[in-house]
Amino acid sequence: MSALANEHKAINLSQGFPDYPLHPALSDYLFDASRAGFNQYAPMIGLANLREQIAKQYSNQYHVALNPDTQITITPGATYGIFTALASILSTGDEVIVLEPAYDSYVPNIEMCNAIPICIALKAPYFSVDWEAIRKAINSKTKAIIVNTPHNPTGAVWSKEDWNTLYELIKDSSIYVIADEVYDTLLFDGQQHFAAYQHEGLRDRSFCIYSFGKSLHATGWKTGFVLANDANMNLFRRLHQYLSFSVSTPTQVAIARFLETHTLYTQAAFMQEKRDFFLEALSKTPFKIHQKSPGSYFQVASYEAISDMPDTEFAKWLTINYGVATIPLSPFYKNKKDERLIRFCFAKEEQTIRNAMQRLLQIPSNA
Ligand SMILES: Cc1ncc(COP(=O)(O)O)c(C=O)c1O
Repeated sequence: MSALANEHKAINLSQGFPDYPLHPALSDYLFDASRAGFNQYAPMIGLANLREQIAKQYSNQYHVALNPDTQITITPGATYGIFTALASILSTGDEVIVLEPAYDSYVPNIEMCNAIPICIALKAPYFSVDWEAIRKAINSKTKAIIVNTPHNPTGAVWSKEDWNTLYELIKDSSIYVIADEVYDTLLFDGQQHFAAYQHEGLRDRSFCIYSFGKSLHATGWKTGFVLANDANMNLFRRLHQYLSFSVSTPTQVAIARFLETHTLYTQAAFMQEKRDFFLEALSKTPFKIHQKSPGSYFQVASYEAISDMPDTEFAKWLTINYGVATIPLSPFYKNKKDERLIRFCFAKEEQTIRNAMQRLLQIPSNA
């Protein structure tokens, strides 16, 4: 969609990346780090100062102690963290439960490990979890479940009760949890993120995945981190050592320095303002929403008042005819299930949103 957006000079509300500038201190620190000579390999597990900053901030935020030497590894982004966590635990023929719609790397990553994705649909329109379907899917081959909260593409958030329900379902097995929590700093309306690592029963079977790309609004920096208990982190590092070995040094120096004076966990209000500005403007167009996005960069909307085209066709039509690029939801399903929904990314400058809305306002109902 981004390529089509460029071709048609469309306003790009499709891919999940911000168009507003980076915090200026971060750019300065990156420049300083390189100028100061931090240009050679970093340690395999990540710079000590960065892991210490993460441990400090994470423990304050989520009230759980972390050993920065044995439980945190810096990664070249969250996508890498997810794949490496899966590859550390999967063997041929293992099954992994994926809740769909799902971030597009999960299913291919599982298949790359010769394992089998077992896809279970979240229940529209609120994308709640179908616990009964999960219970039925669990068997002796089930090796892991991937949970993404706040969720891409819907923004749906797991409560502590959701984690408790999952725990009850898997506590008598050795099923792992891959917790993709890349939007953990972006929950709205006063909600609190509950991390898998906070759950006493789940902690020792979880790999929790985070992205500085998302939390620092610098997706091109492709830097993140993974948490796991000592034994699981050993499994992870056995692969990490030969997959990427280490992560960009000046980037780590810059982020560590930034975290000495800035906390990761104060940005939700900034993003909620963007969501609210976006939704207020969207309400004047024929698009309908079932619920306000509870978190992340994204809002799902229905175009039933405009057209009954399949979602991919509709998203292309919108890009070509009205110059606004979005993402259809069907590619987030292995079987390309089409519920006539599209996803908007609102992590954009107000002016970008305003310009996009001027175009969307031109669309008649039942176009
Ligand atoms: C749910 C989810 N997980 C992981 C990622 C990837 O993060 P990174 O860019 O750090 O690999 C994204 C990016 O859009 C995402 O939406």
